[in-house]
Amino acid sequence: MLKIILLGAPGAGKGTQGELISKKYNFPKISTGDILREAVKNGTELGLKAKAKMDAGELVDDEIILGIIKERISREDCQRGFILDGFPRNINQAEEFEKIGIEGKELVLYFDISDEEIIKRLSSRRVCSKCGAIYSLLISPPKKEGICDKCGGKLIQREDDTPEVIKKRLEVYKAQTFPLIEFYKKQGSLRKINAEGDIEEIFASVCDIIGQYL
Ligand code: AP5
Repeated sequence: MLKIILLGAPGAGKGTQGELISKKYNFPKISTGDILREAVKNGTELGLKAKAKMDAGELVDDEIILGIIKERISREDCQRGFILDGFPRNINQAEEFEKIGIEGKELVLYFDISDEEIIKRLSSRRVCSKCGAIYSLLISPPKKEGICDKCGGKLIQREDDTPEVIKKRLEVYKAQTFPLIEFYKKQGSLRKINAEGDIEEIFASVCDIIGQYL
């Protein structure tokens, strides 16, 4: 069992790298953000509870998030391992996750990136409204403008990728998520990765590290 946690600021590339890791090593990628956005899209009770917080760039309540995680990691496809993208997001979530007591190795990949690069990336991100594929108008635009190469779905800008919500998300990250770096450093499971540069180069560093844990 290998538990991979992707840690880093909004736009650090957690989703992008998580997708590549998932394909290469065949571990499910569990993105709390994706699960919440899907719930908002479908207008479920969970979605209704989460929407206001997400739109404001704030964290959704820990209790809701922990419920999502516990249910998802109990599924069959998580038995060999899994990738957590966007969870834990604060110390309480990390402590509660530990209490679940899943046996196995833990690897926390911390994607280090500057604020300037974050703002550049998030304002040029587009996502597929159907399959969730991630594009960058700067480095990986779709072949046909506004259309997903993979499924033909419509590309949209995330509602929280506006300048004022990006600013808020960064503040929340610094206040609540950043302390997790020290938390995992103390536990000896943190590995820092320079998240600026070519996606493939970053992925090669990621694979080097994962290789040491398999
Ligand atoms: P979430 O969906 O987790 O958003 P986030 O953490 O802000 O992270 P992002 O998805 O914005 O960025 P990313 O690091 O995945 O980057 P990406 O690969 O897309 O959370 C959204 C909201 O949900 C939260 O604000 C909160 O309300 C709620 N939530 C979620 N989890 C929660 C939790 N645990 N507790 C409480 N609330 C929670 O890349 C970004 C862009 O850059 C893309 O366009 C990509 O193509 C491009 N890019 C990627 N790599 C590179 C590169 N190397 N060079 C250039 N461009 C690149």
